[in-house]
Amino acid sequence: MPDMNPVYEKIIEDIADRDYTVIENLFDDAILRGLKNRLLQNIKSEKMKAAGIGNRNHHLQDHAIRSDKIHWIDRYSENQSEQQFVSKIDNLSAYLNKTCFTGITDFEFHYACFEKGTFYKRHIDRFKNDNSRKFSVITYLNERWKKEHGGELVLYMENEEIIIPPEWGKTIIFRSHLIEHEVLPSHTRRLSITGWLK
Ligand code: OGA
Ligand code: MN
Repeated sequence: MPDMNPVYEKIIEDIADRDYTVIENLFDDAILRGLKNRLLQNIKSEKMKAAGIGNRNHHLQDHAIRSDKIHWIDRYSENQSEQQFVSKIDNLSAYLNKTCFTGITDFEFHYACFEKGTFYKRHIDRFKNDNSRKFSVITYLNERWKKEHGGELVLYMENEEIIIPPEWGKTIIFRSHLIEHEVLPSHTRRLSITGWLK
């Protein structure tokens, strides 16, 4: 067994209980700041591209369903913050595999930017032709988020809707094939990193 990690243990307990978890302190502020800067650079240099609704190999665009822009993170990036992000994800995946036999063998992450007026309608994070996504992981990079900014994540549970404000440093993890979810229209630029453990 690896050394017990209380943050990871809370993730495991929550997911076993209710298929999702919300974590406030998965990444250090310095990493988050570096990632936010990279995302802002990607926006400036026009690297962000309209997101699709198929997987990476079957790219379909439908702006009635989602209107955010994304840029995939290179897991072999030379950027320090991206390296730290990737090693944290590696570390979490290894912990889940050792303690819960989750069989995670891969992951993919992208930056996402929802500009004012954009959204992602209710959906599930799995494709008809690809069931490899096990866990969805989203981290928000919005400092000073306010209610009037909108862009909340809604998780559609069996008997209730969980509404999650996209606040700075908050990470959501949920079972990709189980939880339908939606990004409500954002009334200001909304920044995040989203990915999947596969
Ligand atoms: C997605 C998604 C949710 C969010 O990219 O598939 O559902 O809160 N994102 O950004
Ligand atoms: Mn989704």
